[in-house]
Amino acid sequence: MKKFIFSVIIFLIAIQFIKVDIQEQVETPKELEIQAPKEIATILQKSCYDCHSNSVSLPWYGYVAPTSWYVRDHIKSGRKILNFSEFNAYDEATQQKKYEKIIDATVIRMPLPSYTLVHRSTQLSYDEKQLIKAWAESKMQE
Ligand code: HEC
Repeated sequence: MKKFIFSVIIFLIAIQFIKVDIQEQVETPKELEIQAPKEIATILQKSCYDCHSNSVSLPWYGYVAPTSWYVRDHIKSGRKILNFSEFNAYDEATQQKKYEKIIDATVIRMPLPSYTLVHRSTQLSYDEKQLIKAWAESKMQE
């Protein structure tokens, strides 16, 4: 039994050296940031920026393997697919597509349920979802 516990401890220490590298704060020109009314920007920052921006804050388990792999992987793929800090770097057609996806994603399943489960305050209320949806729709008609 002692041997087993010892092995588990060694294992847990060993995996700490396997890192999924992400940079929490990436310097990004301000003008690339998505432009949105304050009300909308606040919601996005609260509920989306931890995975879809160049300014994320990692929780403590974002530093400890194996949970850190999971958290950082979400940030990596979240940033890749939609980055609000670099939104204006997308061309017009891509932006339009992103707005369309935002409408779908917000109503259906974003932020990720595994995230809101732990970060209760980031869960969007019905009203907040409607605000985001209306805003994204208005951007699509421009
Ligand atoms: C915990 C991390 C996390 C949070 C928080 C989060 N997302 Fe995501 N999001 C992801 C990941 C990972 C993907 C890509 C994989 C997938 O679709 O599941 C994604 C995909 C998307 C997509 C799909 C883009 C495309 O081109 O298909 C949209 C749109 C999106 N998120 C919008 C949002 C919005 C809006 C919020 C805030 C209300 C949000 N997300 C919050 C992690 C997150």
